[in-house]
Amino acid sequence: MTGVQLSHPVFAILSALIEERLGIHYGMEDRELLADKLAPRAAERGFDSLLDYYYFLRYDERAESELTHLAEALVVNETYFFREAPALELTAGSYIPELVRQGVRPRVWCAACATGEEPLTLAMLLDAAEVLDAVTLVASDISRRALSRAQEGVYLRRSLRALPAYAAGRWFTPIENGMRIERRLTDAIEWHRINLIDAGAIATLGDFDIVLCRNVLIYFSDTTVQRVLDSLTNALRPNGRLIVGTSESLLRFESPLVCEERGGAFFYRKVQP
Ligand SMILES: C[S@@+](CC[C@H](N)C(=O)[O-])C[C@H]1O[C@@H](n2cnc3c(N)ncnc32)[C@H](O)[C@@H]1O
Repeated sequence: MTGVQLSHPVFAILSALIEERLGIHYGMEDRELLADKLAPRAAERGFDSLLDYYYFLRYDERAESELTHLAEALVVNETYFFREAPALELTAGSYIPELVRQGVRPRVWCAACATGEEPLTLAMLLDAAEVLDAVTLVASDISRRALSRAQEGVYLRRSLRALPAYAAGRWFTPIENGMRIERRLTDAIEWHRINLIDAGAIATLGDFDIVLCRNVLIYFSDTTVQRVLDSLTNALRPNGRLIVGTSESLLRFESPLVCEERGGAFFYRKVQP
């Protein structure tokens, strides 16, 4: 099934299902893109048409497992070490050490961690601040493939493009075609598969002083962002901070968060009820 056409009605029901279950929004202009992503997976599962594949995803008892596989074809795992670093540097160099000094064990969650570069950057910065052992670091993503790559700890040049030389020397060992990160950092993180649409799964993680949810809300519609924002806000402790990507803004959504700027980085702080 290559160059497959996705008719308007089939696009409408398939994209609505994907948005409902995985959060990812496809507009009419993305019709060909979605067809190209769905067709190989549908063919692999033995479906001749995307309408049949839709019925399977909607009604079959194996649909949940298939959606997990389908997510792998749809998500964009692009990330790299020290991406949008100021917010991470302030978190690890200032907010977290301050909580540790107050006698709190800070809990931090990277909510769409892809292949791990973001939580591992935080782990490096916390190690440099000598508080890594004093923090609970949780990282999650919907993609099993990305999470298993994160746990392998091997990174290629694309992920390393913004890695400062001091960090390369301190936490990485060169290997053929890339670098291996120190095992201690990977082991300092609790890795989970969490779909951000699943409020119940998020609630099982407990509450957090810092939640990072960066460069994923851009793939969601406003309705979905509001839903995810409600879950993330519930997961924040009073005064806890939510950090989104530099191109993302939460100002048009309803929440008990106030936006604060520090050193050019934006934080959304949960005000005390
Ligand atoms: C572009 S990456 C961002 C990675 C990292 N946060 C960063 O800023 O570099 C987006 C990630 O969001 C994940 N994602 C997409 N939809 C998701 C969902 N419904 N639940 C959890 N993660 C999701 C993708 O698997 C992908 O790894």
